[in-house]
Order: sequence, then C-alpha cells, then structure tokens
Amino acid sequence: MTILEQLRQDHTNMRCLLNILNKKVSKLRSGEHPNFGLLDEVIDYLRNYADAYHHPWENELFRHFEGRDADLDKVMHCCEAQHKEMLGAGSSLAESLDCILHDAVIPMDRFTDQLEQFVVQQSEHLDLEDHTLMPHMVRIATTVDWQALEQALSRPDDPLFGETQSTRYSQLYQQLLSGDNDC
Ligand SMILES: [Fe+2]
Ligand SMILES: [Fe+2]
Repeated sequence: MTILEQLRQDHTNMRCLLNILNKKVSKLRSGEHPNFGLLDEVIDYLRNYADAYHHPWENELFRHFEGRDADLDKVMHCCEAQHKEMLGAGSSLAESLDCILHDAVIPMDRFTDQLEQFVVQQSEHLDLEDHTLMPHMVRIATTVDWQALEQALSRPDDPLFGETQSTRYSQLYQQLLSGDNDC
C-alpha cells in the first residue's frame, strides 16, 4: 500500500468507527443504554491508533511538505492544531466513559453531548484532510517526494484493521464482521 492509499484506508476505517459512535449517540438520545464496552473499544482504538500513530505520522508528512506552498502550509497547520485538540477531547471523553464503566453517576445527557461533539470534531477533521489537504498535497508532490517518504516513514501495525487483531478489540471486531455498520 502506498502512503496515500494508507491514509485513505485509515480514514475510511475511522469513518466506519465514527458511524458506530453516531449510532450510540442516537441510542443515548432515545433513552436507551448502548453497549458501553463496545463504545469503550472504539474510543480506545481511536486514541491508541489514530492519536498515537496516524496523526503523528501525518505530522511527519506535513514537515516534509512545509514551506512549499503557502496555502498548503495553512491547511497543514490547521490539521496539526486539530490533532492536538482531538488528543485532549479523546482523553476527556475516555475519562467520562471510565466513570460510567466504574458506576460513577454522571449526567447521561452531558456524556451524550461530549460524545456527539467528539464525533463532529473527528468527522470535520477527516473532511478537511480528505477534501482540502490531500488533493492539495497530491498536486504539489512529485514521485521523488513519495519515494523519499516511503523510505522515511515507518508503518505502525494497526491493531484492529491490520493483519493481527488485538484481543483488546474483540467486541468491536465482531461488530465490524457483522456488517451492520454502514461502513
Ligand atoms: Fe489528521
Ligand atoms: Fe488523517
């Protein structure tokens, strides 16, 4: 898989998980209790793969193209700032979920708002990268750039969509296999 294919694949996978989270938001809004264990696995994956590998990987990509084009610089800076914001939002959402999983009483409507805001933030970020950043980068990049980046960037193992699935995501993996996720 090339770097661009990897980026697109990661984004497709993340959108699939955001669809699952969106369904949880609807359930919560209708007063039902969703499967919080599954919710925990989705958020954990987004923090452990997207925040810990995918975003730092993109940041390295941004470093490579920095200074080539003022418009591209602007959008790369914006994406990088969003990576930081998402890190904070993910950590605070995980804390709230941890409270629920440990039976602490927290207002469910506040948690639902937080979850919904998280999904919106992640979706808007993917839209910015897919529709603005990547087309711009593709226009500017040469074959030499992609060759250099293939050499420079290491590929982390994806613990959910990669060749070896972590047992940490067993419920989520089953959910994805069920095909009932609008992915
Ligand atoms: Fe990103
Ligand atoms: Fe991304």
